[in-house]
Amino acid sequence: MKEYVVRGLLGDSRVLVGESLDSLAALLPERGVLLVTDENVDRLYGDRLPDFPKMVLPPGEAEKTLDTAREVYRRLVRLEAGRDWFLCGVGGGVVCDLVGFVASTYVRGMGFGFCATTLLAQVDASVGGKNGVNFEGYKNLVGAFNQPRFVVCDPAVLATLPEEEAASGLAEVVKHAAIADPDLFTFLEENAREARGLAPEAVLRMVGDSVRIKSAVVSEDEREAGRRKVLNFGHTLGHALEKAAGVSHGYGVSAGMAAAARLSVDMGLLAEEEARRLENLLLSLGLPLSLSADRRAVADALLRDKKRAGDTLDYVLLSGLGTAVARPVPVKKLLALLGLDS
Ligand code: GLY
Repeated sequence: MKEYVVRGLLGDSRVLVGESLDSLAALLPERGVLLVTDENVDRLYGDRLPDFPKMVLPPGEAEKTLDTAREVYRRLVRLEAGRDWFLCGVGGGVVCDLVGFVASTYVRGMGFGFCATTLLAQVDASVGGKNGVNFEGYKNLVGAFNQPRFVVCDPAVLATLPEEEAASGLAEVVKHAAIADPDLFTFLEENAREARGLAPEAVLRMVGDSVRIKSAVVSEDEREAGRRKVLNFGHTLGHALEKAAGVSHGYGVSAGMAAAARLSVDMGLLAEEEARRLENLLLSLGLPLSLSADRRAVADALLRDKKRAGDTLDYVLLSGLGTAVARPVPVKKLLALLGLDS
């Protein structure tokens, strides 16, 4: 087991890579705990969870709403939970984001922790302290920065992950390699088959390196005033495509990274050969370079992006494999380069 620490304004987070789901009981208080999970996780691992009151949500992004948050608040009220209670999310990105949000707002803040059960949650969604819910078509619009006390990343629970779910996590691993770690990038190129098949050794390397990279970036800039923006590589267009094409997060981010690499080449920052290496890696991991979607819907989603400031969007580009730079790009130029008009 390896432990990484994320330093946050309100407290630190311990991310435990290689820890077992069965260690959860030892990390939780003895009483005053509400577990939140989803139906898929509960079916597979429900009987291994500690004996506390439990809420089981339907799975999926559609649950990441204020309505679901209200259901969790209601349950906490019925349990007469106070600030000394602890909320524990066991699941993927949706459960983690929602639990972090409820715990940050109920009684103005209670302790919370996660057991991340998808590759995406282990390499990205459970780490970093951003939490929140979607609101009226805007992704993650309502939320807070607040670190979980702990995150358990058990590689064994990934064995039951469907391929499309795995792909979402792999896209975030490629992102971490592309923005910060040329060695991880080469490892993925040389071990694409093992990575794609979630072989245990490859999983430990991908999760460990991703958590190391993300915790370092977040500890330096939790509130995304500067450096943290690089974690948005591939996400501006990625979120727009996810919504407009109705595909999984990873597929959107993959196509978003391919487009951002092309933009980086166009702007004279990245060598053609390096953009091609990124494209080949994405393809070898079963990830798409482009997606078909309604152009108007993509443009609308881009214009609704939280990172938009007036006429420009903070866009993350590559100046080499392993080095990212955030640049304001005029929305008009972005849409034109993507073959979209505003
Ligand atoms: N919770 C995800 C992040 O902070 O990036």
